Amino acid sequence: MKIIRSVKEMKNWTYEIRQEGGTVGFVPTMGFLHEGHLSLVRESTSKCNHTVVSIFVNAKQFGPNEDLDTYPIDFEGDKKQLESLNVDVLFYPSHEEIYPEGHATFVSVEELSGRLCGKSRPGFFRGVTTVVIKLFNIVKPDIAFFGEKDRQQLGVIKKMVTDLNLDLSIKGMPIIRNSDGLALSSRNDYLNKEDRDSSLSLSKALNKAKLMFAEGETSAKVIKGEMTKIIEKEKNTRIDYISLSHPENFKEMEKAVSYSLVALAVFVGKTRLIDNCILGSR
Ligand code: PAJ
Repeated sequence: MKIIRSVKEMKNWTYEIRQEGGTVGFVPTMGFLHEGHLSLVRESTSKCNHTVVSIFVNAKQFGPNEDLDTYPIDFEGDKKQLESLNVDVLFYPSHEEIYPEGHATFVSVEELSGRLCGKSRPGFFRGVTTVVIKLFNIVKPDIAFFGEKDRQQLGVIKKMVTDLNLDLSIKGMPIIRNSDGLALSSRNDYLNKEDRDSSLSLSKALNKAKLMFAEGETSAKVIKGEMTKIIEKEKNTRIDYISLSHPENFKEMEKAVSYSLVALAVFVGKTRLIDNCILGSR
């Protein structure tokens, strides 16, 4: 596996691969890799001739009071895991390489980015879309893989790709969970024993929503009310939002229908966790 740290070298590598006619799959990450990330990498290596994974903790998507300074890092561990999956290139640029002095251009997907997570994390999606389009321009993949764990991020990126006529396809991949239901996340590492127990209330609440919908309940208010009870019963939890919305434009819905998105963000202690599910799906 090649480790590339410069934009120029990354561009040269893709240029040469393109001359040979191979397809390039791309998995952007912020590192501290777990099975959720690795599922995207496996999909890429099975679908594309070459796979590039980036590790870049993107400062521009963190708010002033968020966890940029404590975001977990394990470069050696990540490298080993990616090597074992036959990744061709690990792109590992520095902050200065991506945002040289004087960087002033941002890409922002209006409206969608202001809903759900965008309400409590202003500027977050603007930071994500800015780095992702830069990474797309540097790596020039045929397919980029994103997890449904961050379903709004996936939707915002798909919209950017459509709106800006970008020449690649975006593939969303299912949420990978622990056996007890907790969606894998690099931030789960922050949880102490008590908070780890409380964190199970997110997937429990989503399962309740699915069950209620399967049994005929369609009122968003009633479904969200039951979910709230499940979460508030647990220690150290504070709900940021619980939403029942359209799965592509994320507009709130009063009545649930098949394929409505139920999404939530909950602080467990100081850690903000997100999770979601689609109603009416298996
Ligand atoms: P990060 O949180 O490292 O996630 C990288 C990719 O892994 C994202 O597409 C995310 O949805 C996916 N992922 C994370 N947990 C998952 C899980 N449990 N199951 C399936 N997929 C999962 O998301 C980011 O980084 C950044 O915002 C990034 C897109 C890299 C831009 O900086």
